[in-house]
Amino acid sequence: QEDNFKNVISHAKEYGFIFPSSEIYDGLSAVYDYAQNGVELKKNIREYWWKSMVQMNDNIVGLDAAILMHPTTWKASGHVDAFNDPLIDNKDSKKRYRADVLVEDYAEKLNLKAKKEIEKASVRFGDAFNEQEFITTNTRVVEYLAKEKEIRERLGRSLGNGDLADVKALIEELEIADPETGSRNWTDVKQFNLMFGTKLGASAESAMDLYLRPETAQGIFVNFLNVQKSGRMKIPFGIAQTGKAFRNEIVARQFIFRMREFEQMEMQFFVKPGDEMRWYEHWKTTRLNWHLSLGLGKENYRFHDHDKLAHYANAAADIEFNFPFGFKELEGIHSRTDFDLKAHEQFSGKKLQYFDTDENKNYVPYVVETSVGLDRMFLAVFATSLKEETLEDGSTRTVLSLPSVLAPTKAAVLPLVKKDGLPDVAHKIIEDLKWDFNVAYDEKDAVGRRYRRQDALGTPFCITVDHQTLEDETVTIRHRDTMKQDRVKISELRSIINEEVSM
Ligand code: GAP
Repeated sequence: QEDNFKNVISHAKEYGFIFPSSEIYDGLSAVYDYAQNGVELKKNIREYWWKSMVQMNDNIVGLDAAILMHPTTWKASGHVDAFNDPLIDNKDSKKRYRADVLVEDYAEKLNLKAKKEIEKASVRFGDAFNEQEFITTNTRVVEYLAKEKEIRERLGRSLGNGDLADVKALIEELEIADPETGSRNWTDVKQFNLMFGTKLGASAESAMDLYLRPETAQGIFVNFLNVQKSGRMKIPFGIAQTGKAFRNEIVARQFIFRMREFEQMEMQFFVKPGDEMRWYEHWKTTRLNWHLSLGLGKENYRFHDHDKLAHYANAAADIEFNFPFGFKELEGIHSRTDFDLKAHEQFSGKKLQYFDTDENKNYVPYVVETSVGLDRMFLAVFATSLKEETLEDGSTRTVLSLPSVLAPTKAAVLPLVKKDGLPDVAHKIIEDLKWDFNVAYDEKDAVGRRYRRQDALGTPFCITVDHQTLEDETVTIRHRDTMKQDRVKISELRSIINEEVSM
């Protein structure tokens, strides 16, 4: 698994998808740049989301709110007081860790131990069943899993009621050591706010303290009434937005999974109080189906319903994805009640109510939110699509079998040789197709190597211009996944590609 993940990171760099930010200065931890192919893939994921949320739903509209917001926004939303991670410092190594992550990693190890026991036993019991062995294995598995559950529950309770001393006690009881140095000499656990601060204004005295938004959602809440009135929206309706969010993450590992600057795709759905659970279930199903529509494999998704709820929610679930490092959160679906709108009413002194003409009364709507990280979607799609295949002749190829609709380049046009007028014909084909698709031209190296390069870039089609093309205006079109080639008319190319890549 670890090797597989390393491959993903190096492939992303080698083929121009993702680079570390400001790499010539040795990079900036947990910040990344999207390169020429990455930016296309990312844009296509964003558009795929936008189309399904905004274009396909006549009661959902878009918004692009500013990253900088009035600082009171974050008092009202609870982020100033409650958007914290519990941190612990190792006194010897001076290294800083998230206390909850240390405990969770411990719990995860117990879970892995239980799985290993089961695996080992199924091999042993394959031929001969031994009752005594079965009982001891069973006892061990049950013990591991019970302990895992107990630890997770206690951690959830302690974090829930802010009992950080108990989190520290848990770390001591479990004899958890610094993962890098092995030392167990810790400080107390302290809350650390994840928001990035900045200043607005020129002079030091008059400058206003601002935050870079840690979620896009608040831009939607503060605009709720503006959009509702100007768009004459009737409940239930939604506002969708994509954009950057910033968090000063301490455990910044796992490539673009947890970044300090990342992009969210969020939708707030405003409903009548009392209707929220119905809509919560609706959006859970709808969002899972959206993910499944990409064809990355049903077995790679699961729901995780939250016991421990964020300060704003009365129900919450994650859609988890099987990343190269295991199942982790990809998207959150939250029933946020009227927490945010009520808080903004209170802090701003402005009414944020909706007049329901059917019911003939005013109320503050309830909100069901769907929130997915664009970078995490990128990682899910990219890592799952990257494959090392052994072909019939025993050779291997690297193929990035991206869903065609998301592929950065839809077709590459390749003249078989660099002479006899073949490049001119190839350029003409590109001139025609580029109005509808991203198309690339490549004449370097033997055609087989050019195919391999396009496979690694995820390009669904390679179109090859050869000498026969000059006679009958046909080309070969090669399919990335099957590697099958068909001879087709140049005039048919557009509809063949379109059929495969359109949203
Ligand atoms: N408005 C709700 C909200 O922000 P969240 O669970 O904190 O909820 C939603 O974040 C999604 O944003 C996550 O499911 C994840 O996909 C993405 N996300 C959160 N923090 C991230 C980070 N540091 N790096 C990349 N993506 C992140």
